[in-house]
Amino acid sequence: MDKKEYINRLNEQKKLQEMMSRDRYLLNFHLIPPSGWLNDPNGLCQFKGINHIYYQYTPFDATWGMKLWGHYTTEDWITYKEYEPFLFSDVKDDRDGVYSGSAFIKDDEIYFYYTGNVKYTDKKYDYISAGREQNTIMVRSKDGFTYDEKRTILKNSDYPNMSCHVRDPQIIERDGVFYMVLGARDLEDRGCVLIYSSKDLENWSYHMRIDSQEKFGYMWECPNLIEISGKMFLICCPQGVEQVGIDYANIYQCGYFPIDIDFEGKEYALGKFVELDRGFDIYAPQTFTDEKGRKILIGWMGLPDASYTNEETVKNGWQHALTLPRELKVKDGKIIQLPLEEFKKLRVEQENISTFENIELIFDFESCKEIELLLRESIKIIYRAGILTLNLEKCGLGRDERSVRLEKLESLNIFLDNSSIEIFVNSGEEVFTSRCYCEILENRVNLSGEYKLKEFKGYEIKKF
Ligand code: FRU
Repeated sequence: MDKKEYINRLNEQKKLQEMMSRDRYLLNFHLIPPSGWLNDPNGLCQFKGINHIYYQYTPFDATWGMKLWGHYTTEDWITYKEYEPFLFSDVKDDRDGVYSGSAFIKDDEIYFYYTGNVKYTDKKYDYISAGREQNTIMVRSKDGFTYDEKRTILKNSDYPNMSCHVRDPQIIERDGVFYMVLGARDLEDRGCVLIYSSKDLENWSYHMRIDSQEKFGYMWECPNLIEISGKMFLICCPQGVEQVGIDYANIYQCGYFPIDIDFEGKEYALGKFVELDRGFDIYAPQTFTDEKGRKILIGWMGLPDASYTNEETVKNGWQHALTLPRELKVKDGKIIQLPLEEFKKLRVEQENISTFENIELIFDFESCKEIELLLRESIKIIYRAGILTLNLEKCGLGRDERSVRLEKLESLNIFLDNSSIEIFVNSGEEVFTSRCYCEILENRVNLSGEYKLKEFKGYEIKKF
């Protein structure tokens, strides 16, 4: 879909937006698509004070379809502006969609890299090893709203021993050399990450490959190599990992490997994979460093090929949302996530929070052996025998529960939007992110068990 087609079809968007305005599950302090479908956050960056949030966007279809890069901006994280899509599918190398990618700022310019998707419709091609092109394409921008030209910088033949699933580029710089990280599936069906290097951000050559000693899934999507407080992490989304007890419970995973990497010497040591989030709806997180030096993460509050769909929302012309932006820090070698400081400005002190659609709850425990917290009469948060569980049996559209092992429950910081919940546990040590569809939005907070509270606070959260 090029810009001309998009503009010609804008009347379709009006109709979808009318339907959306009647949807009872609209979110109030999360980004949702202006209409249609949204998935991965893309191109996150802060440039000249403005935070740019691009995302995988199918404007006229709430299920799946031709991907563009939608575009929001914010300067303060509490007011947002919507712009027309930044990238359209309009050259032969991205004929079937502008797939995920990222931004890299250098010398007053933003370099964007993304995957140009081309699918061969001829059935003779096998979907895994042939059948599509995954072109890595670059554009340069001086403002985040316009760009020069699309340049294809890597093609399938540049990816050694790979299936045609190589995508989602991200760039980092080390000692004057630029490295591009790409998620991949090799010809033996192992997930891995490829690294290319460049001196000028335009000419790239194959540098090295990163994978786990034991196979860990068949494809690693959306990789992010990121340094936080001097420690390196490889965030990625492995597909094809079997569930083990309460771990890896979603269809696809979202987490990170701690990594020590010597780029020049092409050596690395990968630690054990850690799940970033224990909720039902989390995927394709992307990180960036803002102008204050904070490491910020935004994820897709959804999953590809998920086992459920909210048909009602789809009928009303939209689907999916982005998570709250989170600041990343490191504690004891582990990534911790905290809602951005700016969100405190959305708080409104209320005597009684029961009638509000959007709330934040803070439970600070002096001690806690066992609790059951019931919210909106359908969301249960249970801590028992060292396991913390989020149970959505009554409002999860057929989904039941997700859990994590937790030695001690010290605090819960819960953000409830109309149809989503994000729980930050023990100051971001664990997070649960989920959509939830409660019949009753009244916020009667029902806490029982064996515990002693240091503090409880409830706020209304203002709409964006
Ligand atoms: C992850 C993903 C990416 C791809 C994009 C397409 O959700 O599958 O790997 O680039 O979505 O929309």
